[in-house]
Amino acid sequence: MKILVLGSGGREHAIGIKLSQSPQKPTLLFAPGNPGMAELGICHPIAADDISALLQLAKKEAVDLTVVGPEVPLVKGIVDVFRAEGLLIFGPTKDAARLEGSKAFSKAFMARHKIPTAAFETFHELKPALAFLDKTGAPVVVKASGLAAGKGAVVCQTLDEARTAIESMLGPNAIFGEAGSEVVIEEFMAGEEASVFAVCDGKNYALLPTAQDHKRIFDGDMGPNTGGMGAYSPAPLMTAELLERVCKETIEPTLEGMHAEGYPYHGVLYVGIMVTAQGPKVVEFNCRLGDPETQVVLPVYEGNFIELLMASAAERLSKAPLETPQRSAAVVVLASGGYPGEYQNGFSITGLAEAETVAGVHVTHAGTKSKDGTLVTAGGRVLGVIGEADTLAVALKAAYEGVGHIHFEGMQYRQDIGQRGLKALG
Ligand code: AMP
Ligand code: GLY
Repeated sequence: MKILVLGSGGREHAIGIKLSQSPQKPTLLFAPGNPGMAELGICHPIAADDISALLQLAKKEAVDLTVVGPEVPLVKGIVDVFRAEGLLIFGPTKDAARLEGSKAFSKAFMARHKIPTAAFETFHELKPALAFLDKTGAPVVVKASGLAAGKGAVVCQTLDEARTAIESMLGPNAIFGEAGSEVVIEEFMAGEEASVFAVCDGKNYALLPTAQDHKRIFDGDMGPNTGGMGAYSPAPLMTAELLERVCKETIEPTLEGMHAEGYPYHGVLYVGIMVTAQGPKVVEFNCRLGDPETQVVLPVYEGNFIELLMASAAERLSKAPLETPQRSAAVVVLASGGYPGEYQNGFSITGLAEAETVAGVHVTHAGTKSKDGTLVTAGGRVLGVIGEADTLAVALKAAYEGVGHIHFEGMQYRQDIGQRGLKALG
């Protein structure tokens, strides 16, 4: 069996690792991949959103399944193109991927189907958007509707901040370009966040283990948002009762609604949840797995991952209750100094092999590159150090012990990954 994985980050490396451990022993191809993935299979230097070149590759190599890591190719319609050629591919169609690609679409969809989420309005023009703030007051959340690489949501504590955010999107500077030409202004929800992942086949779904991400750059959830500085799975906050509510109140009506409206949902429905005083509400939908959540969700998932992906793509998922994972995993992301702002690349990385000698520890590559036979930094998020163990506490200890072996100039990471999870466990 041949599987092509699209993407170049820690998430796709983690997908590659999980696939390589499956009993089917697949041959793995990656596009474009990274030095970590190069240890698992062949990397083809094709961008993950170069749909026509990827289609050629998939045909030439006669791949049995293509797994799409990032959102951009999904939102651009790679699934439609592959399907039209009779190729099996894991992910939603272009219309279905609007659940992530257009916040205006996903919020209106949730309103139509009475799915619990923050109250909102959508705007295309500056004046009415600013005027709406008189009604909302602060705190309030301003979001660019389109894809903005995780930077499009601004939580505003004051009306001044909200005005600035709205002006930056709908004003002359238009910092997010087309993605910010439509803006969602929504109610601020207080609570704790967790992520739920449903693998869907258009009608049925199966849950993956839950996770909690750490989006801010600094300890104590301070500083700007990042792609994610660490995660752990499962998330103790998401009790069986809450998860049941998310299934009944969000996942099932979403699948039914998408089907009824003519764009059935396949692939991963990533549901970002805020657990509020009124119960779980949707913060956002994503149309793919999370990064770095995947690095911890897949190690604790006990099912047959390839079978799950194939069943989703081929529309033959059988409904199965989620078994509570027996183990826990935690990932600490090692980032370049300056990230998520400007940073330098090209610093040499040492200590990976030593880190992996710690029991239960492995490392995923995100922003790395091979240069003259040595590994150097090549991105904002450079590596993920994952600890796996019977308990979250031991998994965290292992991950941080692994981190202690790794070095590159300017390396920064959060010291408090998993602390909320430990608190929730009591
Ligand atoms: P999003 O890109 O929509 O996931 O938003 C990024 C982050 O902003 C979320 O993970 C939350 O921490 C925060 N956020 C987004 N929407 C809200 C909201 N309505 N209330 C409170 N926090 C929010
Ligand atoms: N870690 C957040 C995301 O993948 O969207």
